[in-house]
Amino acid sequence: MAPETHAAITGAELYHKLSVLGQYDYDRAACDRYASIIAEIERLKAQRRAVVLAHNYQRPEIFEVADFIGDSLELARKAKEVRDAEIIVFCGVHFMAETAKVFNPDRKVLLPDLKAGCSLADSVTAEALAQRKAELKQIYPDLKVISYVNCTADVKALSDACCTSANAAKVVNAIDSGHILFVPDQNLANYVQTQTGKQIISWDGNCYVHHQITAAEVEKVKRGLPGVKVLAHPECRSDVLGIADAVLSTSAMVRYAQESGATEFLIVTECGLSDRLLLEIPGKHFYKACKLCRYMKMITLEGTLDSLRHLRYEIELSEDVREGARQALERMLELSA
Ligand code: 13P
Ligand code: SF4
Repeated sequence: MAPETHAAITGAELYHKLSVLGQYDYDRAACDRYASIIAEIERLKAQRRAVVLAHNYQRPEIFEVADFIGDSLELARKAKEVRDAEIIVFCGVHFMAETAKVFNPDRKVLLPDLKAGCSLADSVTAEALAQRKAELKQIYPDLKVISYVNCTADVKALSDACCTSANAAKVVNAIDSGHILFVPDQNLANYVQTQTGKQIISWDGNCYVHHQITAAEVEKVKRGLPGVKVLAHPECRSDVLGIADAVLSTSAMVRYAQESGATEFLIVTECGLSDRLLLEIPGKHFYKACKLCRYMKMITLEGTLDSLRHLRYEIELSEDVREGARQALERMLELSA
């Protein structure tokens, strides 16, 4: 992907577009303000030869300046395909921006707010993983470490392969070992265990957004909306996944909703995804779990403008960590091809 110029949107057009979300904070004055920031971001993107990659959980006004919107797997692939651009502005969380840097050592990769972390990534350190891996290797000499991409680059560098929510079972089944140490998400590990005959040894991390969603809440909505299709992210607890119609990555939810004959969906993941669905799929109804990821929401349109203006905040990785993480990410792409 290469830098592209987008036609400017007016405040009135943005107001009309975002009105489907039914959120009172997108009033006419806010949309006028966003439209002028969007125009300035587009001007700076062209001037600085920058591309903007955005995760599905980002704010709807950020979607307007994104050159690509997707899930972790798609964003990793897009980051690998960047051509001509000198700068990548990553509207997402820190580990995702690190992945963009892994594939773009000679480009500036900017994250508008360095505090945009992830509770899963915080739950495993490279030191703790190295220790656990050494202990388990004594018991299972064929042990392989698979890290869910929601972890830091130095954790990835200690892994045999990475995976995302879109390809976790495929990677586990394809790797040449019957014993897998799966880090850091216990819920995704439990889900993968249902999809494989291999022995999964899980870390005890979780996503604070998905882990708080209970099966009782989901059941209650299902009872009130007979026929609703429940789409759940695999970071949810296993009893929630057990009552879902489909367990999918964020972008796979978009495709499922587009292709399904159903018209009503309960989206059991972070709320930003429901905004994308409402904007892109008119005529269908999306009920959301009302859970926000405070890290994803630290990225704002104003912060993105400042990031491009002041070229901040730059992601830096040491060469050995970058190379180790690159190998684990490349292995993921091979195994899930
Ligand atoms: P996806 O890769 O499915 O978009 O998930 C990323 C994430 O952080 C979910 O919480
Ligand atoms: Fe991390 Fe959860 Fe936020 Fe995704 S939703 S970025 S897993 S804290």
